[in-house]
Amino acid sequence: MLSGVRTLGSARAQWVLRSSVTQYKVLLPRGARMQSSMSGAQRSDDIRVLGSSYNRDKWTNATPAILEKTGRDLLHHPSHPLAILKELIFKEFPTFAHYDNISPVVSTYQNFDSLGFSKDHPGRSVTDTYYINQNTLLRTHTSAHQLQLLAAGKKGDSELLALARNSSASPRNERFLVAADVYRRDEIDASHYPVFHQMEGVCTFSRAEIRKHIRDRDIAASTKSSTSENGSVAKLLDTTVIGDANPVQPEHLEEEAAFLADHMKQMMNNMVVQILTKAVAAQKSAGDADMAGSQTEFPVRWIDAFFPFTSPSWEMEVLFQGEWLEICGCGVMKQNILEDAGMTDRIGWAFGFGLERLAMLLFGIPDIRLFWSSDPRFTGQFAPGQITTFKPFSRHPACTKDVSFWLPESSEFHENDLMDMVREIAGDLVEGVKLIDSFTHPKTGKASRCYRINYCSMDRNVTNEEINAIQEQRQLNVLFQMKELIRRQNKMSIIEAINDPENSDAQDKMRLYILYMLVNKGLKQANRDECKAALRVVGCNLTALEHINQIDS
Ligand code: PHE
Repeated sequence: MLSGVRTLGSARAQWVLRSSVTQYKVLLPRGARMQSSMSGAQRSDDIRVLGSSYNRDKWTNATPAILEKTGRDLLHHPSHPLAILKELIFKEFPTFAHYDNISPVVSTYQNFDSLGFSKDHPGRSVTDTYYINQNTLLRTHTSAHQLQLLAAGKKGDSELLALARNSSASPRNERFLVAADVYRRDEIDASHYPVFHQMEGVCTFSRAEIRKHIRDRDIAASTKSSTSENGSVAKLLDTTVIGDANPVQPEHLEEEAAFLADHMKQMMNNMVVQILTKAVAAQKSAGDADMAGSQTEFPVRWIDAFFPFTSPSWEMEVLFQGEWLEICGCGVMKQNILEDAGMTDRIGWAFGFGLERLAMLLFGIPDIRLFWSSDPRFTGQFAPGQITTFKPFSRHPACTKDVSFWLPESSEFHENDLMDMVREIAGDLVEGVKLIDSFTHPKTGKASRCYRINYCSMDRNVTNEEINAIQEQRQLNVLFQMKELIRRQNKMSIIEAINDPENSDAQDKMRLYILYMLVNKGLKQANRDECKAALRVVGCNLTALEHINQIDS
């Protein structure tokens, strides 16, 4: 069940709210690292991630472009803004064990079941999550490691405990932080990227310890005060009333839950004040004092929320430069997680938040794709331990193209499938993808969609020719047809498609013909080199085909 160790080297229910910080929030009714590769002696039905092979099955939907990201390891480049932020946060929690090198490949049990996600929770769907296969996926949040790390501490699992950067801080993982890359299928825009980073915090106490704190009324004694080095204060605006909708768990006494909530709030207030104070200082020294308004007070508020693995649960927001910023999800850990870890006499709190949004704010980074840039004009701007304001290099002209296609008739279309195809073909050149038109043919009932794709490179000009080559509306169109046909595995329908007057383009016919041959032979037995050569002739690459095959095989 334990995931491998990293060696260093919407059809959503209405009430699920999308957010870039937390995925699983449901509003209450109140309102060695090795590169992944597709080559080598693996069987064609295997998928390789970070040097290990996994069986493919009909759940497999992780694309090569996404798998490539598992090897990037941004948190281990000391002058990368995300690594700088990670270190700043680690520093705020010196008594916690610090983990930043746990593999992103986890079991569905770790990511969902261990945390009490219902079997039909929308987060489990293949349209939201990158699956390696039915039982294995790329973690969608760092909470996937809660039970694993608690259990490792309890059992004294030395292999896992040895991954902590500061093994003496909390040798039994009674308090820990996990910083890691997480993966979610999502739309494409300036603040969403299918890979981002999260920080998880878990803090447990023995019940005896809590009784003592309650008796001594000294919550504050176990934390620092919320005043930062330069005197800023986190003002607490706490209007939350613990009610039926956000209840204290039956296993907990009211005062135990209250102690945990207070302790958690104070620790988090401290962290936020320290970090935002640094952001203000960076803005000042970059000459942006006006904008920062030299903010010295940071009001925070706690809003009722719901997560399957905490109760009561909140969302922390802080007022920064006139806007309420959502910082993190948090709450009192569900007792069964601690029990499953064998920690029957302990209770605890947990938080989780996204690093990108905070880093964009701290460093003034305007586009989430920049974190993945290897342009020295980006990477050269930052230094370990320092928050400095990003100086934009000239913005390159954008180029937009519209793509329209018929929706597959016998299967559901999900936007995230399109997003992954676009990423697969154009990578980080895509800045945004927006639906601009949908149409249903009045007679045939066939439905089509038109999307506008906005191309803009972070680090160079993109030429029209380049985009045209990537784009080819017909290529996408054909990809959809292929997908549909492979799903149906129906030779007749392929032949029909070849003969369809709408596929007038000779290339389209060729592609469909090749598809027909592949389906006919069975893609798995087909000679890969033969296929590759044939595909090259018609300008369709094998990666794209493999991708389609992954989605539907
Ligand atoms: N894992 C949650 C998410 O990504 C955030 C969270 C962590 C909430 C810990 C509560 C406690 O949405």
